[in-house]
Amino acid sequence: MASTNGKPPAGKSATAKKPVSKAASRDAGNGAAGPAPHLNGKAYPFIDHTFDVVVIGAGGSGLRATVGCVEAGLNTACITKVFPTRSHTVAAQGGIAASLANMGPDDWRWHMYDTVKGSDWLGDQDAIEYLVREAPAAVYELEHYGVPFSRTEEGKIYQRPFGGHMQNYGEGPPVQRTCAAADRTGHAILHTLYGAALKHNARFFIEYFAIDLITDDDGTCRGVVALDLETGELHRYRAKMVILATGGYGRAYFSCTSAHTCTGDGNAMVLRAGLPLQDMEFVQFHPTGIYGAGCLITEGARGEGGYLTNAEGERFMERYAPSAKDLASRDVVSRSMAMEIRDGRGVGKDADHIFLHLEHLDPEILAERLPGISESAKIFAGVDVTREPIPVLPTVHYNMGGIPTNFWGEMLTSKGGNPDHVVPGLMAVGEAACVSVHGANRLGSNSLIDLVVFGRAAGLRCAEKVDADEKQPDLPPDAGALAVERLDRFRNADGGTPTADLRLDMQKTMQSNCAVFRTGEILEEGQEKIRHVWSGLDDIAVTDRSLIWNTDLIETLEFDNLISQAVVTMDSAAQRTESRGAHAREDCPDRDDKVWMKHTLAWADDHTRSIEIGDRPVHTYTLSNDIAYIKPKARVY
Ligand code: FUM
Repeated sequence: MASTNGKPPAGKSATAKKPVSKAASRDAGNGAAGPAPHLNGKAYPFIDHTFDVVVIGAGGSGLRATVGCVEAGLNTACITKVFPTRSHTVAAQGGIAASLANMGPDDWRWHMYDTVKGSDWLGDQDAIEYLVREAPAAVYELEHYGVPFSRTEEGKIYQRPFGGHMQNYGEGPPVQRTCAAADRTGHAILHTLYGAALKHNARFFIEYFAIDLITDDDGTCRGVVALDLETGELHRYRAKMVILATGGYGRAYFSCTSAHTCTGDGNAMVLRAGLPLQDMEFVQFHPTGIYGAGCLITEGARGEGGYLTNAEGERFMERYAPSAKDLASRDVVSRSMAMEIRDGRGVGKDADHIFLHLEHLDPEILAERLPGISESAKIFAGVDVTREPIPVLPTVHYNMGGIPTNFWGEMLTSKGGNPDHVVPGLMAVGEAACVSVHGANRLGSNSLIDLVVFGRAAGLRCAEKVDADEKQPDLPPDAGALAVERLDRFRNADGGTPTADLRLDMQKTMQSNCAVFRTGEILEEGQEKIRHVWSGLDDIAVTDRSLIWNTDLIETLEFDNLISQAVVTMDSAAQRTESRGAHAREDCPDRDDKVWMKHTLAWADDHTRSIEIGDRPVHTYTLSNDIAYIKPKARVY
């Protein structure tokens, strides 16, 4: 047991343990006690485990990867800081994109074209082909697992229009491609996937906070150290493969649709392991967060016929996107809204937001297809959607950037002149990963499909590459010591600045200096301000010294995770002197394919507090001859 004095923490017996899984497990480490690093006079004994694969995160991608690995006969653990059905996938509303053609003509090639165009040509086209071709099978697989999709009259999966999804290679009209379970699609998928995972022999470690990766001198990932939040015990996992499924880092911003848990823990572990993150400057603002509260109002609302107006009652999207209008891609709609507000045509007493109208829609349709957002609008904006418009504002929603991977989920870095060097033992899936299929801007409903397609791909890759019969080498005796040192440092932090104050400074800096519109000057100021917050770590104050449900400590570890990603985001944005997708530079308004059609890589050194920037080429080739490389052109909707 981990405790301040080597004895069990108060109120806990050394043997009292909550059940970690309903399923039987083959934990080869048997939870044996490992050597105990001593820091500040305290012992931190490890409980050791050995698995073939350890998945960190139990959202849509983590659960799908877990299922795949177990199905392949691999001894698999899934570690999650929240109960699986509380993972942020549960909040996804509008749907999951796949060219099923249930509601009219569609084709995976059209889906590919839309995704490449949506990405503003920064997406890797081999990976995009993989995504859109696998999408229909992935949705049918979910249907067979039991996802309660909404249905058409004939009993087929219901599909709605979503922004940027068109027929005929972008020519239009909009296509109905987004498969929905009312406006609670993520909820339906997550609960079903957890059920599917429980049917298998996976071992879940629930409410365990992953602190850091264990890596060898040669850069191979060998496992992870995690803290059991309930008991305060430290667990050390040895694995042949670690899959990071830790989600995005929306909480680096002040106003976001993301849960408080979205702190990009895996991304930060990668940075601390000396590895780069990719394309972090591309932060998606969802056009319709509820004004003030930031809660998501699904794009499905516009898919069902909702529209935006300014203070003059004008449907202004007709000016900005004459063809797609309110169903243009998210970066375009968010920018248009910001321009209307800036030009004095915002609504409300401060003229600082926009109206989303649903009151013209049939109340029965609202009740059937948009019950969740009808409730959210009532609770968070006091609005009855059958009578009044919802006040909305672009709100941080998704990180296109993350851990660079190929479409199998293997982490890539540039090494020895090879831009696609595979990091041994480490994979990433879901929002944590940058595959990159979303490039500079993700299309709505391409996120849920990314989770299940690449979660499944990671399982397939593990089945191919991880040998269940192979014995793992022992971990070095000091394995995990760095993670313990980090935990202990923050646990005993006795500075003068509460974590909450630093976090607020970070969130406000990101919100004002790395927003929908950016300029070199504002970003430069942001670089200075965010570094100031970073240096605040030296004076951070943690008041609770215990290890049991110490939210002060966990929020501090999460802040430490967020701040390195915030700095990397700001620096990545400052160096990209063009506009592309969600990265809109007013001082460099054009896309510059000659110079900038490349992925940004960024490394952060925690000790020297410095950032290094590099790049990787975009994959300008497809996976098969069934579709040719889609050449860049001007992006109009
Ligand atoms: O608007 C929405 O329902 C969000 C979907 C997404 O981000 O894919």
